[in-house]
Amino acid sequence: MSSNNHYFAERPRAKIKLYKIRTNLRGHDLVFYTASGVFSPKRIDRGTRLLIESMIIEDGWNILDLGTGYGPIGIVAAKMAPHGYVIMTDINRRALWLAKLNAKINNVERIVDIRYGHLYKPVRNEKFNTIITNPPQSAGMELCMKIIYEAPKYLVSGGLFQMVFRHGKGGRRLAKLIEETFGNYEILASRAGYRVYVGKLE
Ligand SMILES: C[S@@+](CC[C@H](N)C(=O)[O-])C[C@H]1O[C@@H](n2cnc3c(N)ncnc32)[C@H](O)[C@@H]1O
Repeated sequence: MSSNNHYFAERPRAKIKLYKIRTNLRGHDLVFYTASGVFSPKRIDRGTRLLIESMIIEDGWNILDLGTGYGPIGIVAAKMAPHGYVIMTDINRRALWLAKLNAKINNVERIVDIRYGHLYKPVRNEKFNTIITNPPQSAGMELCMKIIYEAPKYLVSGGLFQMVFRHGKGGRRLAKLIEETFGNYEILASRAGYRVYVGKLE
């Protein structure tokens, strides 16, 4: 795959092929349009599903979905927090276009804000009750580690950092870093090689 044909390229070159996913997540019937050139276009990724099924969300929260892709995590979070606010970010323009479309067809466009940008750049000076992410593990450990150790700057006191990763693919190091960064952690869910970790900013 050439460098601008990964799912984490800014402008994927793969010819656009559209897909439609119908599913029920956390009690909500949802439709997602996805496309070639974005992460897991044909089905909800197993890690994403595990994170969505186990994530802790309270209505009224300010939520950040970092690396939103076509938007499944942020959109379910918005359904669970209708009086909250969800910012969804990514560097893949095609993914952001789909996330906007999906927010609209799933009727959450009023409470989501979809932004382009690298890691925490689009949310500089903002703080969240929770940061949720299925990080781009294929883009390298360094990027994933940065997502963890910069997270406290963007969380309110008592805020939760929730991340899913493949345990065998560098995940052990990520788990250790969450523990070191927050001084605590819990495993929210574990299935088929994926784990969902949560760290609380004390
Ligand atoms: C593993 S995918 C998860 C996508 C989506 N949240 C899901 O679960 O289906 C990671 C996402 O992070 C995005 N990404 C990669 N590098 C990034 C960066 N530096 N800043 C923000 N997002 C990035 C990718 O484009 C991709 O959409």
